[in-house]
Amino acid sequence: MGTKNYGLKNYGLLEGKTGIVFGPLNDESLAWQIALHIHAQGGKFIISNAPLAMRLGSVNDLSKLCGDAPVIPADACSDDDLEKLFAEAKTLYGGLDFIVHSIGRSENIRKKRPYEDLKYDWYMKTLDISAVSFHRIIHHALPVLNEGASLLALTFIGAQRIFSEYSDMGDAKALLESIARSFGARLGKRGIRVNTVSQSPTMTTAGKGIAHFRALYDFADKASPLGNASAEECADYVVTLLSDLTRKVTMQNLFHDGGFSSMGMDERVIALMGYDVLTDAENPS
Ligand SMILES: NC(=O)c1ccc[n+]([C@@H]2O[C@H](COP(=O)([O-])OP(=O)(O)OC[C@H]3O[C@@H](n4cnc5c(N)ncnc54)[C@H](O)[C@@H]3O)[C@@H](O)[C@H]2O)c1
Repeated sequence: MGTKNYGLKNYGLLEGKTGIVFGPLNDESLAWQIALHIHAQGGKFIISNAPLAMRLGSVNDLSKLCGDAPVIPADACSDDDLEKLFAEAKTLYGGLDFIVHSIGRSENIRKKRPYEDLKYDWYMKTLDISAVSFHRIIHHALPVLNEGASLLALTFIGAQRIFSEYSDMGDAKALLESIARSFGARLGKRGIRVNTVSQSPTMTTAGKGIAHFRALYDFADKASPLGNASAEECADYVVTLLSDLTRKVTMQNLFHDGGFSSMGMDERVIALMGYDVLTDAENPS
């Protein structure tokens, strides 16, 4: 589990850079791969997750794989926890060059509440954990961010389009992407960029908690010219966005989805519906 040699090539993209990676739970997590890839590119970072996830997950194993990276628990909805975390980050590194927000949770989805019948205190919690936390994190980070820092959050195309079982997470992702733009506009004067990466469906703990996730995964895979992007491929993309190679990219929602977001109709998806595509195309009636 997570101990194999990933054979990552070191381009030195993140040499001398320091940051925080929020959200690795286990070796399926997007943030797990992102942490491994940042480490491989020479970046140094704190690993953080909610206190409960520290007990349930395997975060300490990840720390070992990343050169004993410091592990500091923080509930991303707690101002007190975040204040302490960023104070420790300042002591450790002086300033920060990157932040990765890979956090999401919806109790409404976990408990299969239909969108028309959301439990509102869970709805507020979904927004707080999955979107407002990015605002809170950046707010607390402001005094320790270095000029040219790159701030990034993981999102999903459910922010723009309706996926029947994505429920209140679609609303949370729309807010998350808006927060990224709002901060991007304000932090440009410090050379700081803020973006979201809109990733393909990926088999993680959060992903698999969505009803009919396998069907969504297969549908997206068939409809994407390049197929679904894996967690490893997501991490490859993320390290470029944390590096100096992308220093003028800001306020963007960047699709990392094998082309899914630009597709309309496709024969492979139609074939899944049982149509004989060639015959039907020749005989439209
Ligand atoms: N898996 C997918 O299909 C997919 C696709 C696009 C975007 N994303 C997004 O990627 C991000 C990471 O999710 P993942 O798929 O790797 O699943 P994951 O379950 O591995 O990660 C979600 C993380 O959020 C953390 N978290 C929940 N509540 C928290 C809190 N209060 N404070 C701090 N951390 C908290 C969890 O402990 C967990 O580590 C999420 O934002 C998710 O919406 C996932």
